[in-house]
Amino acid sequence: MIIRKLGGAIGAEILDVTLSGDMPQAEVDAIRAAWLEHGVVFFRDQDLPPAQFAAVARRFGQAVEYPFVKGIEGFPEIIEVKKLPHEKVNFGGVWHTDTAYLDQPPMATMLVAREVPEAGGDTLFASLRHAWEGLSPAMQAVLRPLRAHNTSAKADVSKTREDRLKDSGREEARKSYDALHPVARTHPETGRTALYVNAGHTARFEGMTEEESTPLLDYLYRHSVRPEYTCRFRWAPGSVALWDNRCCLHYPLNDYHGHLRLMHRITLAGDTPA
Ligand code: SIN
Repeated sequence: MIIRKLGGAIGAEILDVTLSGDMPQAEVDAIRAAWLEHGVVFFRDQDLPPAQFAAVARRFGQAVEYPFVKGIEGFPEIIEVKKLPHEKVNFGGVWHTDTAYLDQPPMATMLVAREVPEAGGDTLFASLRHAWEGLSPAMQAVLRPLRAHNTSAKADVSKTREDRLKDSGREEARKSYDALHPVARTHPETGRTALYVNAGHTARFEGMTEEESTPLLDYLYRHSVRPEYTCRFRWAPGSVALWDNRCCLHYPLNDYHGHLRLMHRITLAGDTPA
């Protein structure tokens, strides 16, 4: 497999693979190994209509449904991540890990690009392992025993769902989802520690008020997206990303007003953060 790193800390393109539901197991294992090492892997020019996309996802894990938005016709596990030309706010346009407000947030997310603007709409990724390792031992010691409240209800991220709730919201969704997770998360497969807080969903430290938590959380949000911990991916139709929500943040740029951007997304079941 030809693997080309995108940044020093995170991200790699896998150049010579055709994704399909019946890929040899050795290929799936090699992709998985690259994914664990680089946090997010990218593929180009993949021909993955919904049934094939779902079949590929099943090779890496068990698809889970997104609580707020219905799936596309016939595929409850595939949601549209889209911004229409007249819309101003993009879905998930805040640094976050996917649905960190669930007791068991998804291990991974797969995104395939269907239609993208001629320029703009890139996605940035940041390594929470490098963020953790870049903190001083004294700060790590402060954070290690802490847990943080994560919620789906923070205003900045809630407003990024509003357009999709109008056209494909799930009636059964709760008003908000909330979960308490460790701030220093041990990756269940690599054993490495990640700084598991994010601006989209983390509200406060356990036992502290928001006012008390905010100064340190704001510092950690800034620290975790230092440019040297990030990479940036330029999409084209047929591009695919597979990222590890246990140790990566992502941030889709909203710099393409007046143009359509349409992606299909599947999230894969994860475990209870520890
Ligand atoms: C998401 O947060 O899942 C969307 C990412 C993107 O649109 O690039």
